[in-house]
Amino acid sequence: MYHDVTKCRACDFGSWDRQGKAGESPEKLVPVLDLGVQPLANDFRQTGQEKSGYAPLKVLYCPRCSLAQLSVVVRPEVLYSNYAYVTSNSRTMRDHFGTLTRDILTEITAGPAIEIGSNDGLFLAYLSDLGFGNLVGIDPAKNLAERANKLGITTINDFFNPDSAEAARTSCGEPSLIIARHVFCHVHDWHGFVNNLNAMAGKNTLICLEVPYAVDQLAAGSFDQVYHEHLSYLSIKAMKALLNDTVFHLHRICHYPVHGGAIVIMIRRNDAKEPPHPSVEQYLEKEDCSEKRWLDFAGNAHKQIANLREMVEELAFKGRRICGYGASAKATVWISACEFTRKQIGIVCDSTAQKVGCTIPGTDIPVTNEGDHFTGCFDYVVLFAWNYAREIMEREKGFNHGGFSWIVPVPKLEMITA
Ligand code: TMP
Ligand code: ZN
Repeated sequence: MYHDVTKCRACDFGSWDRQGKAGESPEKLVPVLDLGVQPLANDFRQTGQEKSGYAPLKVLYCPRCSLAQLSVVVRPEVLYSNYAYVTSNSRTMRDHFGTLTRDILTEITAGPAIEIGSNDGLFLAYLSDLGFGNLVGIDPAKNLAERANKLGITTINDFFNPDSAEAARTSCGEPSLIIARHVFCHVHDWHGFVNNLNAMAGKNTLICLEVPYAVDQLAAGSFDQVYHEHLSYLSIKAMKALLNDTVFHLHRICHYPVHGGAIVIMIRRNDAKEPPHPSVEQYLEKEDCSEKRWLDFAGNAHKQIANLREMVEELAFKGRRICGYGASAKATVWISACEFTRKQIGIVCDSTAQKVGCTIPGTDIPVTNEGDHFTGCFDYVVLFAWNYAREIMEREKGFNHGGFSWIVPVPKLEMITA
């Protein structure tokens, strides 16, 4: 189901288990965080459906380019062929689409566009409303590609590979925009990815890769973003190392508050006429994704796990009823790390139809409809979807006459009376 990582995917540094030549010290990626063997975070299955199983969850650090990366790669077919994650149509995300596209339109005019990992086509539909045309999505999940095609968003149901890249380019023509939102950190073969971009991008194409930013993750202590789909924890320095000696370069960095802090790395071909934006050098200069920061992050993660576990166990022991809000991959990471069962967390509610009726991977905790926590009269609600805290807490204010408290685990464990 998975294979070990043998070298840094950005700069090819070393191997975590290979010995160096005689007389040389071996180049080794440095282990920084070990969360043990964990279930696949989005492995939501209905009763009777076979689960995919478990794999080690361990982060290695590259001392050359500062890229933190998982020690194993789970086969993409296992992770993505039937994918429960649907692009959120939340207010938070719609606001983000607005800001992001405004920034994009300072670089290019609306034209043909390709989205890699287009999910159910929500973002392409948004681009269409802005006047972009010849839109093509590429997504490996059959359930999502079918849904997008039904809604009139042309979607190639495949992984991003030389064939789908060529098919997208043929269907779209020369794209003014190629975008991949929260996809790149899921990809193992970065050199192959760059080659496929090369097959699609023209001289005037703007490439946008939106990824969670390691600097924000380190600052927030959001270790729950470490799961098997997130193979890499992106620094701009690592991205620069990857593009070294390719036909591309970093063009501009934009920074957004979504998903606990994300950057859009804008990339252009080396023969593009636009000069690189000063943000690239500014970010590179101040970026600190050092090994020490990752080790501190790991030490802190173990404390955070112990703290939530202690808080929830104590409340459960006193007979308080506790549930979770948001069956995100982050919820699976927290719940597995804390070893919670139904005894501590009665249910986790979520708005995603495909997750309802499943159990949290690796546990007996059922996922129920959003809103069910109130009919069940829970005393405490753990907000695993902390990245939507404002939106969710505001919406839920009036329910149950505020007769419950939120437990927010990130960025700091907090109990908030509703
Ligand atoms: P994400 O952080 O990976 O986007 O996942 C958030 C999860 O929370 C996702 O499964 C959808 C769920 N959710 C709700 O149930 N209600 C909400 O209002 C929002 C914004 C998300
Ligand atoms: Zn490296």
